[in-house]
Amino acid sequence: MKYFRLTLYSTLIVVALGGWCDNKQTAGQDLVSAYNRFPSSRIVNHPEIRNNLPTDEIIRSEGYPAETHYATTPDGYILALHRIPYGKTNSDPANREVVFVQHGLLCSSADWIMSTPSKGLGYMLAEAGYDVWLGNYRGNTYSRNHTFFNPNEGSGGFWDFTWDEMAKFDIPTQIEKVLEITGKDELQYIGHSMGTTAFMAMHHYKQDVASKIRLAHLLSPVAYVGNMESPIGWIAGLGPLLDAILGFLGIGEFLPGNVLMDCLATLFCHEGLTQGICTNILFILCGFDEPQMNTTLLETIMKHTPAGASTPTVLHYAQEVTSDEFHGYDWGSDRENFNHHGANGIPNYSLTDVTTPVAVYFGQNDWLASSTDVLRTISELPNIVGGMQHMVKFPTWNHLDFLWGIDADTEVYADVLANMKTCWETDCRV
Ligand SMILES: *[C@@H]1O[C@H](CO)[C@@H](O)[C@H](O)[C@H]1NC(C)=O
Ligand SMILES: *[C@@H]1O[C@H](CO)[C@@H](O)[C@H](O)[C@H]1NC(C)=O
Ligand SMILES: *[C@@H]1O[C@H](CO)[C@@H](O)[C@H](O)[C@H]1NC(C)=O
Repeated sequence: MKYFRLTLYSTLIVVALGGWCDNKQTAGQDLVSAYNRFPSSRIVNHPEIRNNLPTDEIIRSEGYPAETHYATTPDGYILALHRIPYGKTNSDPANREVVFVQHGLLCSSADWIMSTPSKGLGYMLAEAGYDVWLGNYRGNTYSRNHTFFNPNEGSGGFWDFTWDEMAKFDIPTQIEKVLEITGKDELQYIGHSMGTTAFMAMHHYKQDVASKIRLAHLLSPVAYVGNMESPIGWIAGLGPLLDAILGFLGIGEFLPGNVLMDCLATLFCHEGLTQGICTNILFILCGFDEPQMNTTLLETIMKHTPAGASTPTVLHYAQEVTSDEFHGYDWGSDRENFNHHGANGIPNYSLTDVTTPVAVYFGQNDWLASSTDVLRTISELPNIVGGMQHMVKFPTWNHLDFLWGIDADTEVYADVLANMKTCWETDCRV
C-alpha cells in the first residue's frame, strides 16, 4: 500500500511538472520544487539489494572452485573476498602467482565472473595460471557488515565513508589478507574505475603495501575528473541547490529516489534503446555503448548492479569535478574533517607518489574517465612500464565495456594477460 502511494506520488509529480528536467540549466530548480512539494517521493524504487546468485555460487555453477574469505579493516568494516584458486582446465593448484582484482563504483566481485568463462576476466586469469582474488569494497552487496555499525541505519555511521577510506583501509587490508592466506610476499593488482582511484590514493597512506605490488593494471584510470561527462559532473554543478535535494540521493547509502532517477534519465539517457537501461543508476552515471552491449548478459548485470555505495562516495567525485584536482573528501566541517583526516586536514594526493609500476588501459568514449583527464593522469604517473599504455581501438569503448563489453577479451584482457606475464618474468620494479 505504501509503495503504491509513493509510486502514485512520483507519477503525479511527473505529470504535474510536464516537461520538467528537460533542460540541464533549470533541472536543478525543478528538482528542488519537486522535493519541496513531495518530500516523501525521495524514497526509492528498489531499496533492496538485488542479487539472485552470489559470486562464489556463480563461479561454482561454471565448474570452477570458489572460496569466500573475510577481512576486517582497522575501522571495523568486514569485507568479503572471493577466490578462484585454480582453473577448470588449468587445474593444478601448485605454483600460482597471485592476482588481486578490485571493482569500481556501485559494483562488486560479481563483475568479473558474470560473463561466460571464455570472456569473464576472473575465469581467464584462473585458466592463465593465476590464483585469483576478487575484492569487495565496504558497502557493497558482500561487504555490508561491520563490527558495530548497522548498514541498515542510514545515518547510523556505517555509510560515513568515501574512497578515502577505501584507499586507506579497504585495499591495504584486502591485500595483506591475500598475502597472509597465500603465504606470498607480492602480487599483481587489477583495478577498474574506483578500483584505480583508491589504488592511486593508497600510495599517499601505505607505501609499504604498495611496494608488494609487482605491477598494477589500471582499467579506465580515474584520478582527475574535471572533464567527466557523467551526470556526476552535472550534480556537482548544482552547487548550493545540491544541499536542497540531498535527500534525493539517499541518506548515507546512495539510493537515488524516483524523482531524481526520472530527472537524470530525461537529461542523460536519451537512447532508451535497451530495455531497462535508463532505470539503472549505474548505466545512467556511466553511459553505455550499444555495439558492445550483450543484451543477454544485461539481465544478469541488472540483478547485480547497483551493488551499493555511500552518498559521500559519489559526492567525493563531484567535489573533484569542481576542483579539478585529486584530493580527499571535504566533510563540510572542521570537526568532521578532523575525524576523517586527522590533524593535517584534507589530504592532497600526488600521482608522483604512485611509484608502483603500472599498465594503463583507457577508452575513447568513457563518461567517467574522459580522454583529457586520462591523458593528464598518464602524464603525471611516474612509472608506466614501457609499451603498457593501451588506448582501446574500438571507437565507442566506454566505462563499463571494460567489464562486460562483447570484445573485452580481445580489446583489453589479452593485453592484461600479456603484461602480467612480462612483469612476472622480469621484475618491472627495477
Ligand atoms: C557480520 O559479521 C559478524 C562478525 O564476524 C558475523 O557474526 C555476522 O554473521 C555477519 N553478518 C552478516 C549479515 O554477514
Ligand atoms: C552474451 O552473453 C551470453 C550470456 O552470458 C553468452 O552466452 C553469449 O555468448 C554472449 N554473447 C557474446 C557475443 O559475447
Ligand atoms: C591541499 O591543496 C589545497 C589547494 O592547493 C590547499 O589549500 C591545502 O592546504 C592543501 N592541503 C594540505 C593538507 O596540504
